[in-house]
Amino acid sequence: MKRESFGTVQGSPVELFTLTNAHSLEVRCTNYGGIILSLRVPDKRGRPDDVVLGFDNLDGYLQKQPYFGAIIGRYANRIAEARFTLDGKQYSLAANDGLNSLHGGDRGFDKVVWKAEHLENPNGVGVIFTYLSKDGEEGYPGNLNVKVTYTLSDQNELIVDYEAITDKATPLNLTQHTYFNLAGEGRGDILGHELTLNADRFTPVDKTLIPTGELRSVKNTPMDFTKPTVIGARIHENDEQLELALGYDHNFVINRAGPDLVFAARVREPGTGRVLEVSTTEPGVQFYSGNFLDGTNTGKHGHVYQKRFGFCLETQHFPDSPNHPDFPSTILKPEEDYRSRTIYKFK
Ligand code: GLA
Repeated sequence: MKRESFGTVQGSPVELFTLTNAHSLEVRCTNYGGIILSLRVPDKRGRPDDVVLGFDNLDGYLQKQPYFGAIIGRYANRIAEARFTLDGKQYSLAANDGLNSLHGGDRGFDKVVWKAEHLENPNGVGVIFTYLSKDGEEGYPGNLNVKVTYTLSDQNELIVDYEAITDKATPLNLTQHTYFNLAGEGRGDILGHELTLNADRFTPVDKTLIPTGELRSVKNTPMDFTKPTVIGARIHENDEQLELALGYDHNFVINRAGPDLVFAARVREPGTGRVLEVSTTEPGVQFYSGNFLDGTNTGKHGHVYQKRFGFCLETQHFPDSPNHPDFPSTILKPEEDYRSRTIYKFK
């Protein structure tokens, strides 16, 4: 593991960590936002390429940009009308997505400097990021201590472990917002990638992308990825949900029998043969097809990121859960330990 300086954010030093494994996989990340800066993966002929969108330097990440590579919290995804009630008290959040609150508010976990420590264990090499989100930060209750660990294993896995404790009950929903393009970042759109989702149901949304509350079957709809299907095969179909979200930007309900780690998604890029498999302990995964990328961000090596140049698989609890008592709870209580794991495995 290599650790070097990456610049400063508001006077705080920021570092760059490089993790490598025995099969030439390389992950570069920083303690600013816990951002995964690059991920080099060999293709079927052994040629490595960077498969995640992002920027060449820290300044890129400080501009207006759509959460490239970052840890998202305190609440990933949307909270309707930027408010929720907990134990009889109403809390208001920043409305940064129309009337809704998105991805933790104005300065979420993607925009803060985390403490970092390096890690080496029989599983691999890694970095431990910790952050204290103070009581009231972005409107959320409780001093929340968060720990996110990235481990790169020799089995070509990037293991993301999330842990947290709080001193007051708070909503909590953590995820990772990396945009992947398995053909290589900047090499066109992701519509030719083939996707499988282990999800028989999804949470349909209204026009502000807030779940209606229904868990709807994917059967006979363009949301059915239970068998490997090319992302672009049905994306232009005349379908209410695709029209509302301008493509795929939906939470899928992962099929699971218990709380253990289960297979959630598999993506294959036919040209390079690269395969990404995602497994998680979370109940949902937001499949986002990069609909809002519009060429305003110039990323690595001068690559302009156009619409659908990357996709995200954000493992998470369902959007707006604090306002949906029927959804799996996202409330972390002081007597509880929050633990969640997602594994991104490359083949
Ligand atoms: C998530 C959301 C999208 C969009 C992106 C960031 O994936 O679901 O609607 O906000 O983040 O642009």
